[in-house]
Amino acid sequence: MKKHYDTIVVGGGIIGNSIAYSLLKRGQSVLVIEKGEINRKASSAAAGMLAAQAEVTEAGPLFDLARKSRNMFPSLNEELMERTGVDIELIQKGMLTTAYTNDKVQELKEVIDFQRSLGEEAVWLTREDIQQVEPNLSEKVIGGMYAPRDGQVSAFKLASGFARGASALGGDYLEFTDVHGLLIEEGRVRGVQALQGEFYSENVVIAGGAWSTFLLKQLDVNLGMYPVKGECFSVITALPLITKTIFAEDCYIVPKREGRILVGATMVPHTFDEKVTADGVSWLLERAISILPALKEAEWERAWAGIRPQTTDGLPYLGVHPTISGLFVATGHYRNGVLLSPITGEVIADMIEQKELPFAMQAFSLDLQTRRGLYEASN
Ligand code: FAD
Ligand code: GLY
Repeated sequence: MKKHYDTIVVGGGIIGNSIAYSLLKRGQSVLVIEKGEINRKASSAAAGMLAAQAEVTEAGPLFDLARKSRNMFPSLNEELMERTGVDIELIQKGMLTTAYTNDKVQELKEVIDFQRSLGEEAVWLTREDIQQVEPNLSEKVIGGMYAPRDGQVSAFKLASGFARGASALGGDYLEFTDVHGLLIEEGRVRGVQALQGEFYSENVVIAGGAWSTFLLKQLDVNLGMYPVKGECFSVITALPLITKTIFAEDCYIVPKREGRILVGATMVPHTFDEKVTADGVSWLLERAISILPALKEAEWERAWAGIRPQTTDGLPYLGVHPTISGLFVATGHYRNGVLLSPITGEVIADMIEQKELPFAMQAFSLDLQTRRGLYEASN
């Protein structure tokens, strides 16, 4: 292992690995440092939904970024398969956001209008339509928005695909290594400090998910981030119960391969505790069964939890530090880090290479003035 790299990435989750992969494809030397095992935190807990339209229901910079990233998946799927042999399990059967009340019907119809006005496909399905396409859903579903272009992957396989791709291109990985400080000289980052010693680089990217905040605080950077725990469970069914991902008000139900159905997720803010609680699982079970009653018969598989990195304005931080050159931050992807991973890798690599960005990124800036001004203007 070398001691000097073009770029050191702190954090070996889906975001850090995507950035490493993009940089290595461009010929950089890269070291990824991970305090535990790579891809074992939020990135392996995620349901893998590519829910650009189901999750982002307002026009704005996040909707634009999410759609761009979602559209990268078909070619990324082929690329990772070819380069690494990893099948990310891309399924493109769309997502159905369900309504149980007239208020929700109205809200979803407005979402359909704005998404169509921006060129996205979104279709209203009546109760009768839903009974035709997803006959196992409960009668309490009175309609829904179908977004045929939203999809899903295996989050863990995608994160592993990026990491394998990065390794195959010569990227170095250091696991079980906590980065506890940054080396900064004359306003420029020079590398990182870890228990195993110092590692040097021209650029450092902080991609530590919900834990990024601890490293950033040392630099007096308070981005106003907080953790949001999410619990999920999976079951196995003998016959397929649904074909599309069901995005309900309190939970989502994602049909995976080989009869597996994944149900998520709770939202518990301000905790780094990754325990799965009986309360969380029973809350999810109750909601999922009320919308898909046949789940009662399914075979229990397992439950797990992960910590989402949330920001106070709901937008990720993707940019360069305003005063320390060579220091970049890529975090705060909250509920959409899997969806946003391909575009995050590419834009951070563009920023590091000081390329002109193909679209405006100020809304994701670390400069809170720029970001707030834009955010308020768009709301
Ligand atoms: P992480 O995966 O948490 O990785 C960060 C890594 O950095 C960790 O491994 C950590 O150990 C390491 N690290 C931190 N600090 C240091 C340090 N100082 N030194 C060394 N290493 C460090 N997103 C979607 O798009 N679709 C979904 O369907 C979806 N479902 C979700 C369901 C659940 C239950 C949860 C919890 C999240 C879900 N998400 C989903 C969100 C998604 O998982 C996250 O946004 C994404 O995984 C964040 O990736 P990350 O790489 O930033 O963070
Ligand atoms: N995007 C789903 C979740 O974060 O639970």
